[in-house]
Amino acid sequence: MTYKDVYASWQNDPEAFWLDAANAIDWDEAPTKALTDKGNDLYEWFADAKVNTCYNAVDRHVENGRGDQVAIIHDSPITNSISKITYAELQTRVASLAGALRAKGVEKGDRVIIYMPMVPEALDAMLACARIGAIHSVVFGGFAANELAVRIDDATPKAIIAASCGLEPGRIVKYKPLLDGAVELATHKPDFTVILQREQEVVDLGPRDVNWHDFQKGTTPADCLPVEGNHPAYILYTSGTTGAPKGVIRHTGGHLVALNWTMKNVYNVDPGDVFWAASDVGWVVGHSYICYAPLVHGNTTIVFEGKPVGTPDAGTFWRVISDHNVKSFFTAPTAFRAVKREDPKGEFIKKYDLSCLNVVYLAGERADPDTIQWAQNQLNVPVIDHWWQTETGFAIAANPMGIEALPVKLGSPSVAMPGYDVQVLDEGGHPMKTGELGAIAVKLPLPPGTLPTLWNAEDRFRKSYLTQFPGYYETGDAGMIDEDGYLYIMARTDDVINVAGHRLSTGGMEEVLAGHPDVAECAVIGVTDQLKGQMPVGFVCLNSGAGRDNADVAAECVKLVREKIGPVAAFKLAVVVDCLPKTRSGKILRATMVKIADSETFKLPATIDDPAILDEIKIALQSIGYAK
Ligand code: COA
Ligand code: AMP
Repeated sequence: MTYKDVYASWQNDPEAFWLDAANAIDWDEAPTKALTDKGNDLYEWFADAKVNTCYNAVDRHVENGRGDQVAIIHDSPITNSISKITYAELQTRVASLAGALRAKGVEKGDRVIIYMPMVPEALDAMLACARIGAIHSVVFGGFAANELAVRIDDATPKAIIAASCGLEPGRIVKYKPLLDGAVELATHKPDFTVILQREQEVVDLGPRDVNWHDFQKGTTPADCLPVEGNHPAYILYTSGTTGAPKGVIRHTGGHLVALNWTMKNVYNVDPGDVFWAASDVGWVVGHSYICYAPLVHGNTTIVFEGKPVGTPDAGTFWRVISDHNVKSFFTAPTAFRAVKREDPKGEFIKKYDLSCLNVVYLAGERADPDTIQWAQNQLNVPVIDHWWQTETGFAIAANPMGIEALPVKLGSPSVAMPGYDVQVLDEGGHPMKTGELGAIAVKLPLPPGTLPTLWNAEDRFRKSYLTQFPGYYETGDAGMIDEDGYLYIMARTDDVINVAGHRLSTGGMEEVLAGHPDVAECAVIGVTDQLKGQMPVGFVCLNSGAGRDNADVAAECVKLVREKIGPVAAFKLAVVVDCLPKTRSGKILRATMVKIADSETFKLPATIDDPAILDEIKIALQSIGYAK
């Protein structure tokens, strides 16, 4: 079958297509129908089925003879250690943790926040929740206490599972003070917090804390609890246009079916193969392709605690691929740019036998043609860009290597996957012509595994995704489709920026800056950055008579964003300006400011009353090296 055949078979009968894919999942009660139209643009997949995610990710492989196969390899160049966990061992670990959580009162539907670094216990925690029908919400370790607190108040978890610390090169990230600070800040208080003590940072436990190992002692391991196909498997918060993150919900049945389908069709791996996604469990890539998809499909997954460069060197990726026989490797373009900068000629690549590697997949941000070409030339394997979002949980557009290898077009994540009818629309919702730039939208219903709504925020779900183009899901990305059906994703249509493959809200950063006592007005924009794709830059106007040194305020602004949002915001550039460029109606011209930073031939828009203000912005950007 060709890609065209497969896509056409989905178009002809989407429900039959997904019911067929559902045969690869072990159901406690098989679905009798695929899609439920709940009316008013809300849809659910496999709602009448009963299933358990953990059973499909772990137990069934043990029952089917894969017990001795390695399920998880933990490779941590930061601690210089490698360990392996078989499927049988994983079953014991997860059943024990699940039993202990249940003994402490965690039940089906209860939320559990997981705040952990890249250790196998993070996967144990996710799977233990799934085993007993608890809904996990993993929070990335690079977020500060305030961001964690916001998520605690939205998800209202019964428990939080955390480690004592994370490890960044040369720095121990002490999680306990962040966790305690977040619980203190939050209105909702969890019943208990489980702490995994790492040897790099052993912390004192408080009255709410239990020790990861101790609290499992003497409890009965838990069996897998079947849940409804539309039971939420997890909530994952992602950036939107305001500081309040959006809680993307993933339903159990569709999640299993869709992810399992992608492992062969998109990533071309078979059960038993080693699959590595070099991301973090705090992001959607980590949820889908470090934890769930490889395990559900019976692969070996790698939990990597490190960086592509500097720990110890720019050969880390190649060492891991070679050591563990990785067949398909998934990373973000920014990571390759970091490696390329250190090792442009690929000297480190030559040191390793990479014959095991078949394909490299890139996602998380636009893959620039230079980076793809460099990787392809150095590695001698196809380097495949694919496009997706936290909301979708798996690729909207990809080159489906397990179906057929389509020609690669540099700068394009290739073609729509089954399940997605992708359209490029103008502001009024009319289809654009081939090759014309517009907003990218997907015709409803979205496929299994994608978000059915937002946690506790159906209105926001509608407003964010369904209102602009009735009958469509608005992706928030702009781009075009060429004559062969290849998509090109060019930019966001909202104020979300992408920094080192991390999705961040400039609106959220503006809210923090506006909280500085001397700041009267501010704007944060994302400017093009050679390494990280984009970098946030803050412009602040001070209250009249503030009488402060500009450099001092700028430094305080940088500190404030790091404290409130976290180091992951990578907010290092703030400049004090006299005023911000605005339209006559008073809207700040952020897009214009981005253009000044990114373009050589910038023209002033006609709406600006005072071009001197734009000149000031230009000078400010030049002063920090971001305007030409
Ligand atoms: N916990 C605590 N802090 C973290 C963190 C974590 N889990 N992850 C990152 N940080 C910190 C970093 O230490 C850094 O702190 P610093 O300002 O003190 O240096 C800051 O957050 C910014 O991090 P980042 O933007 O990631 O920069 P970096 O220099 O550490 O690494 C890359 C740059 C390109 C190597 C790295 O971002 C990378 O590998 N990116 C790939 C991202 C990815 O996989 N995305 C998922 C989609 S596939
Ligand atoms: P996240 O939800 O964090 O995965 O971020 C999703 C956003 O990242 C998308 O909406 C895009 O803006 C961007 N993105 C992800 N993958 C790609 C890609 N392959 N090409 C271009 N942009 C991408």
